[in-house]
Amino acid sequence: METRPARGPVAARRHGIEPREGGKPFMDSVKVAIIYYSSTGTVHALAGAAAEGARKAGAEVRVRRVAELAPPEAINANPAWAAHLRETADVAEASLDDLAWAEVVLFGTPTRFGNPSSQLRAFIDTTGGLWYQGKLADKVYSAFTASNTAHGGQESTILTLGTTFYHWGGIIVPPGYTDPVQFKSGNPYGTSHVAGDGPPDDVALEAARFQARRAVHTAACLKAGRVMGS
Ligand SMILES: Cc1cc2nc3c(=O)[nH]c(=O)nc-3n(C[C@H](O)[C@H](O)[C@H](O)COP(=O)(O)O)c2cc1C
Repeated sequence: METRPARGPVAARRHGIEPREGGKPFMDSVKVAIIYYSSTGTVHALAGAAAEGARKAGAEVRVRRVAELAPPEAINANPAWAAHLRETADVAEASLDDLAWAEVVLFGTPTRFGNPSSQLRAFIDTTGGLWYQGKLADKVYSAFTASNTAHGGQESTILTLGTTFYHWGGIIVPPGYTDPVQFKSGNPYGTSHVAGDGPPDDVALEAARFQARRAVHTAACLKAGRVMGS
């Protein structure tokens, strides 16, 4: 005989969610991993703003940089790169556990000839085991980037990451034009900054905060729907 799925407080408790007074479930906060690569600090700044936006939306946040893989000769040939690497030495390195843990993953990368950086790709290329176990599916994914010039490959970089999200069975949540800041920042695919114009300005930082907030809200809705429907 078909049994009705448990709903409301019973289902909520089973998912580790304590019901509020009046019976409405109170959810655990959404878990967000912000995984990024940055050579000279632009994407690092966007990652910080995204973390702010996610925390403000009530999420638990891990900010993680992927390992630097470039040889010291290349890094030391660019003082800004060497300085940024030193300054961010205390940012925890991304691990597969961060991906498995998260319900929302925001990836940040500078453009490299219209593609994500090899450092971020190298991290992504270690995820085969998690993918095989289905542990990358059903999460919310979104991406942000920087390039040196306008039209320098921002959209193609974000769309290229999207190809991976499809393979993972991810739920891609772009910012679109769903907030006034998007009409100023102008990239519906994901927050993007032209590093050649200087460090991220208020608009770019606000776009990153908004993108994170939207991803958190979407994940919270999905989470609530899963609890109520289970
Ligand atoms: C190998 C390489 C390729 C790059 N390709 C592009 C490109 O295609 N278009 C562009 O506008 N900028 C390009 N850039 C510039 C970087 O995207 C820019 O310096 C970066 O977005 C700054 O971000 P960061 O400060 O977080 O490292 C390239 C830089 C390097 C080192």
